[in-house]
Amino acid sequence: AASGLVDGFGRTIRYLRISVTDRCDLRCRYCMAEKMTFLPRSKLLALEEIAIIAERFIDFGVRKIRLSGGEPLVRRDVVELVQRLGSHVGHGLDELTMTTNATRLADHAQALADAGIRRLNVSMDSRDPAVFRHITRHGDVDQVLGGIAAAKRAGLAVKINMVALKGLNEDEIAPMLDWCVGEGHDLTLIETMPMGAIDEDRTDRFVPLTAVFDRLSQQFELERDLAGTGGPARYWRVKGSATRLGLISPLTANFCDGCNRVRLTTEGRLYSCLGHDDQVDLKAALRDGGVPALDDAIRLGIAGKPARHDFRIERGSAPAVARHMSVTGG
Ligand code: GTP
Ligand code: 5AD
Ligand code: SF4
Repeated sequence: AASGLVDGFGRTIRYLRISVTDRCDLRCRYCMAEKMTFLPRSKLLALEEIAIIAERFIDFGVRKIRLSGGEPLVRRDVVELVQRLGSHVGHGLDELTMTTNATRLADHAQALADAGIRRLNVSMDSRDPAVFRHITRHGDVDQVLGGIAAAKRAGLAVKINMVALKGLNEDEIAPMLDWCVGEGHDLTLIETMPMGAIDEDRTDRFVPLTAVFDRLSQQFELERDLAGTGGPARYWRVKGSATRLGLISPLTANFCDGCNRVRLTTEGRLYSCLGHDDQVDLKAALRDGGVPALDDAIRLGIAGKPARHDFRIERGSAPAVARHMSVTGG
C-alpha cells in the first residue's frame, strides 16, 4: 500500500467523512435556512468517482469512512455505494458508518447491515413530537423512532446525536440519556457550530456543554471512557449500563490537536478542516489527470491542513465559515 497521510502538524489522517448529497428532507434550524439552494445534480460526483476516491484514501491508510450529508439516504444510489465500500471492511477499512436523520432508515436498515455497516449515528434532537417538528421544521419523530427500531432489528448499534439548544431541548437532555440507557444506545451531545447562514442568531441557542455535563454528573454516575471511536467526542460510561455519553464541544473544549479527519464534499472537494475554507478539487484532478493526479491532489490537501478551527459564538457575528455543515458532511 502507499505510505500514510500525515499533515504538517504530524497528525495522521485515518478518518474520511464523505458527504454524498448536500440535500436533506429536513431543515433543522441550527443547520439550514428554510430556503436553501442545493447543488445541481450535474455537479455531483458519480458513485464510481466517490468509490475511486475513497479507495485511494483506504490505500493511503484511512481506516474509517463515514457517509453523511445532507441526508445520505435521500441519494438514490447510496446503498450501492455502501455495498461497494463495505467490501473493504476488514480488508483495509476498520469501520464503514453513516450519520443519518433516520427518516428513511426503516426502508434501508437491513440493506445497510448486510453491506457491512455495524453502527449508525442518528440525529435526533428531541423525542417530543412538537419540539422535534419545531426544530426540524418538517420532521415526524415517529418516523425517526421507527427507523431506529428497524436499525436495532437489523443488528445495528445506534448512537443518538443531539445538538443542545437553549430553550428548545435543554430540558430533554437528561431524559434522552435515560431513554438511551433503556434502549442500549450511546448518546452524543453537540455544541451548535457557526457554519452557514441560518434564519436566526446561533448565540440565542448556544448551550455550553461544560454546564450540561456538570448537571448530568449529579444525576448519573459517569465514568470517563478513554476507548473512543476515532471521532471528536470525549466519552463517559453511564455506570452499570452499556451506554456511553459523548460530548462534542468545539467551542468550550477544542479537540483539534488530535484531529484525524478530512472531508470529501458532494462536489468532489477535499476540505482538510471543518472550520476553514481551504480545499482541493479532487474531482477536477481525477477527471483531468486520472489517479496519479488525484493522489497528488490528496497529498496537497493533507499537507495544507490548518492547525485548528476558530469557532466562536458571538452575537451579531457572521458564521466562521459560509458553507453549511451539510456541504462537508459535518
Ligand atoms: P463517531 O464515529 O460516532 O465518533 O462519529 P462522529 O462524531 O465522528 O460523527 P458524527 O457524524 O456523528 O458527527 C457528530 C458531530 O461532530 C457533528 O456535528 C460533526 O459536525 C461534528 N464533528 C465531526 N468531526 C468534527 C471536527 O473535526 N471538528 C468539529 N468542530 N466538529 C466535528
Ligand atoms: N452545529 C453543530 N452540529 C450540527 N449539525 C448540523 N449542523 C450543525 C451545526 N451548525 C449536526 C447534525 C448531525 C451532525 C452530522 O451534525 O445534527 O447530527
Ligand atoms: Fe438535515 Fe441533518 Fe441538517 Fe437536520 S441537521 S437539516 S437532518 S442535514
